[in-house]
Amino acid sequence: MEIFIDTANIDEIKKYSKFGIIDGVTTNPALIAKEGKNFKDVLVEICDIVDGPISAEVVSTDTENMIREGRLINQLHKNIVVKLPSIPEGFEALNVLSSDGIKTNFTVVYTSNQALLAAKLGATYVSPFVGRLDVNSTSGSDLISEIVCMYENYNFDTKVLAASMRNSIYVKDAALAGAHVATIPPEILDQMMNSELSNIALEGFLDEWKKLPKEKRNYFE
Ligand code: E4P
Repeated sequence: MEIFIDTANIDEIKKYSKFGIIDGVTTNPALIAKEGKNFKDVLVEICDIVDGPISAEVVSTDTENMIREGRLINQLHKNIVVKLPSIPEGFEALNVLSSDGIKTNFTVVYTSNQALLAAKLGATYVSPFVGRLDVNSTSGSDLISEIVCMYENYNFDTKVLAASMRNSIYVKDAALAGAHVATIPPEILDQMMNSELSNIALEGFLDEWKKLPKEKRNYFE
């Protein structure tokens, strides 16, 4: 499974890129606004750090302006993926931008039928919002399984990008359900790398190691 980082924060993107685990980045208007910087500057900076798909979202809700904004966003960098919302106007814009050969991420997806239509229209990614769906008493990981199954049935190339992750269990469930990508906030990447048990085990090993006379453990000096 590919791992994208779900933030527009440059320091966090730099920090986690160093681990070598980041394949791409997703942003949305709220994440960009949180940084308080110019839209274009932030995206260009992100593209300079991560050599992978970088999602940036249109902010209009009518088809004509979504197409216009999508084409402008696409000009920012070769790795840009244009995010379009899953509303009827978004489907129409997706049809046009796909014909232009622009890479797209069809976002705020809550049903497998939305994902089916997006794949039919050539979306590069669809983003089911699993965390927000769970809050509405519907299983987010079931939605991922359904979409993965539909895409396999018809050999669609569209990738399922599990979004709206709430903790590390969501990532595990997305992987088990067959998501091709998960986009993960920085704090959840931390959760994925850490376990209390790992720390306790390591502490025990190192306590024992220190009991060995110093001259017998000088190999590392
Ligand atoms: C994905 O591309 C979105 O930016 C993100 O996952 C939204 O998640 P949220 O529910 O935490 O806002």
